[in-house]
Amino acid sequence: MRKQIVAGNWKMNNDLAETRALISDLAKQSKISNAEVMIAPTFVCLGTALKHSSNLDVEVVAQNMHYATNGAFTGEVSASMLRSLGVQTVILGHSERRAYFNEKDNDLAKKVDAALSNNMRVIFCFGEELADRKSGNHEKVVESQIKNALFHLSDDAWESVVLAYEPVWAIGTGETATPEQAQEMHAFIRSVLASKYGNDISSEVSILYGGSVKPNNAKEIFSKPDVDGGLIGGASLNAEDFYAIVNAF
Ligand code: 13P
Repeated sequence: MRKQIVAGNWKMNNDLAETRALISDLAKQSKISNAEVMIAPTFVCLGTALKHSSNLDVEVVAQNMHYATNGAFTGEVSASMLRSLGVQTVILGHSERRAYFNEKDNDLAKKVDAALSNNMRVIFCFGEELADRKSGNHEKVVESQIKNALFHLSDDAWESVVLAYEPVWAIGTGETATPEQAQEMHAFIRSVLASKYGNDISSEVSILYGGSVKPNNAKEIFSKPDVDGGLIGGASLNAEDFYAIVNAF
C-alpha cells in the first residue's frame, strides 16, 4: 500500500522563535488520520525544528540541497550535511527553485542521485505553468519533467521517491486544481511511470498534490484515488489549518 503523506513546505518563512512557536502549536493538535506528516523549515531552522519536534509524530525535511558532496559552492548545503543533522528527506525541484534559481531538469537529476546515494528520501516536485495548461500542453510538460529528471533511476530507487504534482498556476494563488483535474493528472503521471517501470512500481509511488490546498478543499482533493496526499504551502504556517488538512484523510 502506498503511503499517504501531508507535508508542510514553510518556504522562506519562520525565524527560530517562530519555528519553535509553530512547533509548539503543532504539538497541541491531534492527529486522527494515518497520513505521515512532514514539515520543511528553512535550512537555518532545521536543527531547532528537529530538537523541538522530537516527541511529535512529524518528520522534519529540507526544502532543497546541492548535488555536490562539498566544495566551492558558496551558500549551498549538501546531502551529507543534511544527513549529519538527522534530516532524511528532501524536497527537490519545487517550481520556485526552477523559476527563481534556474534549476533545470539535468541539475535536478543530479540532486536526486545525490540524495538517494546518501540514503535520503526525495519529494520530487513538478508541474505545468498556466500557459501550458491553456494550450493543452500540460501533460506533455509534466511527462518531460518526470522523464528528464527521473527516468534514469533504477527500479529500486522508486522506494525512496515521492512525487508532488504542483501546477504553477495554483501555487499561492488561491486557485486550486479541481479534484477532477488533480485526479486526471495523477492518473496520467502513474501511467507515465508504468510505461517504463510497470504497474507494480507505479502503483506503489505516492503522488502528492500541491497548490492552494486548504482545510475547506483538502477532503475532496484527497478523496481522489490517485491523490496520496498534499504538499502544503500557506496553510502549513498555521497549526490548526495544517492539521485540519492532515485530518482530511
Ligand atoms: P500554497 O499551498 O501556498 O499554494 O503552496 C503550495 C506549494 O508550493 C507547496 O510546495
